[in-house]
Amino acid sequence: MHENQGRQINRYRVAVIAASDKGARGERQDESGPAIAAFMTARGYAVTHTVLLPDDEVLLQDEMRRLADAGLTDLILTTGGTGFSPRDRTPEATLAIADRTAPGIAEAMRMHSFQFTKRAMLSRAVSVLRKQTLIINLPGSPQAVREHLDFIADELPHALAILRGDAEECGRH
Ligand code: MTE
Repeated sequence: MHENQGRQINRYRVAVIAASDKGARGERQDESGPAIAAFMTARGYAVTHTVLLPDDEVLLQDEMRRLADAGLTDLILTTGGTGFSPRDRTPEATLAIADRTAPGIAEAMRMHSFQFTKRAMLSRAVSVLRKQTLIINLPGSPQAVREHLDFIADELPHALAILRGDAEECGRH
């Protein structure tokens, strides 16, 4: 069990949104959504919601807005749609429903990813806040998803604790 300042983190709820035209049409098995769910479950989070949507900006916006506004989840992790393909719209959908930006998380993931591939520069992923929900874009491949989550996972409990009002200070211990 991972803990943060004595608090169990398994009360934090995670929603996974996979954006993939082929996946949504049933032409490809989505592996990234399940990879995120497995990673976060192993870390003690409650994965309460997983959905596979086409790369449709409005559908992605609606789903993120619905989850955040109803207070149904603390963290939304998206996968896919962050590259340069014409249909890749996940960052635009995410920014469109953001209350506030939280660019450091996406910046950190990109920085970390350069050790694996220079193509990290092609990731347009963003990280934002809407109400009390943190939303983070991850790339579309299961391996890249794990590389990203490995790097940010330790800081997520504190981020969520501050966002939810469970912790008040960002002081380093
Ligand atoms: N970051 C990591 N850590 N590992 C990867 O394999 N792939 C890159 C980049 N970032 C990659 C990565 C590539 S090839 C692309 S096109 C962008 O993420 C966007 O990925 P997406 O199109 O799957 O969303």
